[in-house]
Amino acid sequence: MTITALAISGSPREGGNTDILLKRCLERLATLGVKGEFVSLAGKMIRGCTACGACLESRDATCPGITDDDYQPVFEKMVKADIIIVGSPVHFGSATPELMALLDRAGYVSRANGNLFSRKLGGPIAVARRAGHNFTYAQLLMWYMINDLIVPGSTYWNVALAREAGAVNEDKEALETIDRFADNLGWLAAKLTHA
Ligand SMILES: Cc1cc2nc3c(=O)[nH]c(=O)nc-3n(C[C@H](O)[C@H](O)[C@H](O)COP(=O)(O)O)c2cc1C
Repeated sequence: MTITALAISGSPREGGNTDILLKRCLERLATLGVKGEFVSLAGKMIRGCTACGACLESRDATCPGITDDDYQPVFEKMVKADIIIVGSPVHFGSATPELMALLDRAGYVSRANGNLFSRKLGGPIAVARRAGHNFTYAQLLMWYMINDLIVPGSTYWNVALAREAGAVNEDKEALETIDRFADNLGWLAAKLTHA
């Protein structure tokens, strides 16, 4: 059985620091036999949950309230993946609205359909120039924990210091942290698969 990982970048800057860390994570997972896919939300339009409750009526793993944006294909990839990793730059102390819009709707639709993300593995990554990493990391962790996913740790929190695109490659400790996070995801996936 091939384990699959989906990495979703909430950065509007394609090829930026968040993308670099997520791709590194997938590359590391690939060495452990995990098949990865990277999805960038840059340029995609994903509106926020309108609290219409239509998903609670339809219970067909869709968001019937909003059908004219890029939400559904990304959500379907999330449902298929065994591992979901999300990354965000810190924007004014929080995750990007694009990513939160996706997670709000995905979480609500999941819960309306018997918790579609139950026991998937994963975790968040946050990148910032100076401050707000831990708030953003915690903000994203909240989504994992209420949606019944399993999040391994690392040797530090999954946060990195960087401003200009590519600068994250200078943050050696962050790279080590992300490598260990990926190793732990792969290790856990192998344990669970062979259990
Ligand atoms: C609108 C905006 C808000 C930002 N807010 C913060 C912030 O609150 N704290 C911080 O340290 N950096 C902040 N930054 C800097 C980014 O987090 C940083 O440049 C990061 O490396 C961008 O990641 P990316 O290349 O993946 O987009 C902000 C950048 C933008 C564009």
